[in-house]
Amino acid sequence: MHVLVTGGAGFIGSHTVDVLLKEGHTVRILDILEKPTHLRGKPDYLPEEAEFMEGDVTNRRELEKALKDIEIIFHFAAYMDYLTDFSKFFHVNSAGTALLYELIVEKDLPIRKVIVASSQAVYGEGKYLCKEHGIFSPNIRGIEQLERGEWEITCPQCKSVATPQITDEEVVNPQNQYAISKYSQELIALNLGRRYHIPTTVLRYSIVQGARQSFYNVYSGVCRIFCLSMYFDHQPPIYEDGMQLRDYVNIEDVVKANLLVLDDPRADYQIFNVGGRKGYTVLEFARILAKTFGKKFNPEITGEFRFGDTRHIISSIDKLKALGWEPKNSVEKSVRDYYGWLNNRVVTEDILDYAEKKMKELKIVRRIIV
Ligand SMILES: NC(=O)c1ccc[n+]([C@@H]2O[C@H](COP(=O)([O-])OP(=O)(O)OC[C@H]3O[C@@H](n4cnc5c(N)ncnc54)[C@H](O)[C@@H]3O)[C@@H](O)[C@H]2O)c1
Repeated sequence: MHVLVTGGAGFIGSHTVDVLLKEGHTVRILDILEKPTHLRGKPDYLPEEAEFMEGDVTNRRELEKALKDIEIIFHFAAYMDYLTDFSKFFHVNSAGTALLYELIVEKDLPIRKVIVASSQAVYGEGKYLCKEHGIFSPNIRGIEQLERGEWEITCPQCKSVATPQITDEEVVNPQNQYAISKYSQELIALNLGRRYHIPTTVLRYSIVQGARQSFYNVYSGVCRIFCLSMYFDHQPPIYEDGMQLRDYVNIEDVVKANLLVLDDPRADYQIFNVGGRKGYTVLEFARILAKTFGKKFNPEITGEFRFGDTRHIISSIDKLKALGWEPKNSVEKSVRDYYGWLNNRVVTEDILDYAEKKMKELKIVRRIIV
């Protein structure tokens, strides 16, 4: 089939492109080559067999050109990070998605399926259980609480420490510009899809890991920051107490999920989590990484925290499992893959400084007040 992959020069998009080509599809990439993700221009890993169009999903003319003769769309292009140019998140992620459906309807394009990349971020702090008052969806932790070094989520009624639950697809609670824009993107895609009979599937990825992940995302995953820190013989920064739980999913498993929902009509007009199943604390993850790199890890709890960080989040994968998907690859493999990728690149130490400086500028990293 003729497939358009928006954001196909990026991490998840490019791996999906590789497998689509292997499966005999004809692939076109539409990507703006956003900086700093693509600081050196078009990445060398893009296969020649895929047609590459440099262009913007928010540009009507460029998107229309990219949609010519297309039957399937993987929509990965997005504005990410946690910077404060709020409107850009909605311009790219929400308006860009609306434009996609607008053109499909307006030009009566023969699209058979759209798969939209969303994020676990839409759950915010996820779901918690208070023994006394039951299940609730917390708001972000207040700055006063964090400055006191009180990390755990408490019940809004009795203030006792609550227990994080595995989060299914039912309740969302997006709490930052990225998450809100991704949730609005979901609503646009699913509702316009349903209304105009354009089969659409939304995938909410947990933290995806593997080779080709950008070195430059300021606020990006722990794998990037920790790998780069260890690579340059720095101790990785541990925020809060390092006991934050996350689930990590390997890129190969993510691509399998992408292809599965493409082929399975039961996935039409549905939302699925794509997660790693098991939660790891940040400290556990750092230990796995240190072992892979053969480096010593002396965690230093400095009293710093990132305002707006989620305390714990682990996605339930039961819904996608019912369609026959399961994550097969370990976190250890993801780390090895990223390590291999890092070793084959020219990376300079200023990459770490770049992210650190940006986070300080934005006053994201703060310190407890004792
Ligand atoms: N990587 C993760 O852990 C993760 C987790 C949850 C959700 N996601 C979602 O998955 C998708 C892909 O993420 P990724 O990790 O591959 O990111 P990435 O930055 O590696 O890739 C995104 C690509 O989109 C392109 N792009 C950005 N704005 C564009 C525009 N206006 N027009 C055309 N192209 C544009 C970029 O140049 C880049 O190549 C995104 O929608 C993201 O929100 C990723």
